[in-house]
Amino acid sequence: MNRDEALQLLRSRLGDSATTAHCLACEACMRKLAGRLGGDPDEWGLAGLVHDLDLDVCANDMERHTLVAAQVLEEKGAPASIIRAVLGHNDKAERTAPMEKALWVVDPTTGFITAAALIRPSKSTSDLEVGSIKKRMKDKRFAAAVNRDQIKACQAELGIELEEFLGICLQAMDEIRGELGLAGA
Ligand SMILES: [Fe+2]
Repeated sequence: MNRDEALQLLRSRLGDSATTAHCLACEACMRKLAGRLGGDPDEWGLAGLVHDLDLDVCANDMERHTLVAAQVLEEKGAPASIIRAVLGHNDKAERTAPMEKALWVVDPTTGFITAAALIRPSKSTSDLEVGSIKKRMKDKRFAAAVNRDQIKACQAELGIELEEFLGICLQAMDEIRGELGLAGA
């Protein structure tokens, strides 16, 4: 399964939805983190791109979420490493490999950065700074559904300090801000 096939599969299920944008954001962050942690950017990126592809049918069924995706990915011949990472991000497989841990940490981070960008007058990542994201993380009412501890786990799970981790993800997302709907008005 190459990137084009994965994106086609994702779009066939989720169209141009916020979930598709979220998957593209995770792909971008995973590619950059692979570079930082010595992984294969194509492999890590693919894991990010497909990780939520079953949310068209599992959005209200978190017990089945990623189990359906794993089946679809297996049928499409996706590598076992990708399937494990997808399952792992919803606690359906143990997270042992760096790519599996990275996906779990990246998942809430992209949502939080998106929320932090959209509340700005610019509605864009272009003038968003890491310091402002960190400040928002301390405001419990802001994007309250996002698990801060899972983001901060970058230190324990990946050995990357929060400041650097947020910088890597912010840069990755900003590079494709147009595709993510974060290029501003
Ligand atoms: Fe996700």
